[in-house]
Amino acid sequence: MDKFVIKGPCKVRGQVSISGSKNSALPLLASTILFDEDVILENIPRVQDCNTMLNLLKSLGKIIKFSKNRRIVKISKAKRPKYFASYSIVKTMRAGILVLGPLVAKYHKSISSFPGGCILNGNSGRPIDLHLSALQKLGMKYSIKNGYIRASSKGKLKGTSIKFPTISVGASQQLIISSVLASGVSLISGLATEPEVKDLTNFLKKAGAKIKWVGKRTCRIIGVKKLKGIRYSVMGDRIETGTFCVAATLTKGKLKIKNFDPKLIQTELKILKKAGAKIKESKNQILIEGPKKIKNIRNIVTKEYGGFPTDLQPIFMVLLCKAEGISTITEKIFQGRFLHVMELQRLGAQISIKNAKAVINGNPNFGIGAEVMSSDLRASAALVLAGLTSKGITTISRVYHLDRGYEQFEKKLKKIGANIKRVSG
Ligand code: UD1
Repeated sequence: MDKFVIKGPCKVRGQVSISGSKNSALPLLASTILFDEDVILENIPRVQDCNTMLNLLKSLGKIIKFSKNRRIVKISKAKRPKYFASYSIVKTMRAGILVLGPLVAKYHKSISSFPGGCILNGNSGRPIDLHLSALQKLGMKYSIKNGYIRASSKGKLKGTSIKFPTISVGASQQLIISSVLASGVSLISGLATEPEVKDLTNFLKKAGAKIKWVGKRTCRIIGVKKLKGIRYSVMGDRIETGTFCVAATLTKGKLKIKNFDPKLIQTELKILKKAGAKIKESKNQILIEGPKKIKNIRNIVTKEYGGFPTDLQPIFMVLLCKAEGISTITEKIFQGRFLHVMELQRLGAQISIKNAKAVINGNPNFGIGAEVMSSDLRASAALVLAGLTSKGITTISRVYHLDRGYEQFEKKLKKIGANIKRVSG
């Protein structure tokens, strides 16, 4: 298993180009199950989760062809479609569940493994009840046996009115994809409005789906017979962008961050400005410079889009470890998402957690290098940033978590001045 070895403190300077969004690419890839014509997706990030999703599509019979740099992928119709999403592929990735709806929508049957993915909620796990109950309302029947969801429908799924009781990004994507070829009209409310959900509806619309956002969280979808083949470029990754913004702010660095629309991360940029960062936004670019002293921030609360994203919670926590004074972050999406805290404490952080609220007693001299372990994807990135700002050597193990979602993270960091290397074994 690979490790990162970081010699700190390091300052990041220069420019970095943002990759395609993993969380957008995955539902787009899953939705290609609906297509008979070829789909060409550009700006696919070269990360493990996308490889896993492409392997899953291959196992379902789809024909996958990459461009030379593997950033463009063509997905063609399965000659002999299969309906079995195996545990061995789906176990590492939450988004594996996203093939269930499209398989039933297209072929009226599926045997799909329960998904894996980051453990973000301690013993509460990451349920899929919202996915299943919404698909049931479209006419899917299912039973659960040996860790598999055995699902079927009598012919086409049937459009209807569905209101999500709580907001879920994945369940919203699942239901939108599954309604596109359903008969009749679906009126879906209580949808997540994350940019990745909007990227999905834009993509499907371009392919001929009749989807209209008729309210802030409501879509009307009129079922169509088929989708037409298209070429589409995946949006940029807002979590990667946020991570590099924090890297600059944390290390008193200066970065030009390219290929991302700053309008999509206004909440995060506002907080970074409060912490003291100087930020200049232009079309698809952010210039960011870290302050001499980082100011503490009280009352960050993770929320659905528009609010502060849970995926950046561990990363901003590192910044606040280095601020002057007390900061707080309350986790409202995954209340158990604090596995990184113990590791940050090894580097000298003073953090206490009560009722999903982290109180961070910041110290401008934070951190001293130590051996730490990644627990999940975003926690891994947080530990890397903590390593950059810590004095001495920080060794981060289990970086396979990070490889699931950040494209060439250590290479990008090296280019902007970080002293980081990957060690195998
Ligand atoms: C997606 C993102 C993940 C991000 C999360 C929240 C992908 C591949 N992953 O995950 O990076 O952290 O959104 O922005 O895009 N829930 C249920 N039942 C369900 C589904 C969800 O109770 O059937 C709960 C979850 O436990 C959680 C909340 O709803 O507390 C939100 O989760 P959800 O938005 O579904 O996250 P994911 O789609 O899994």
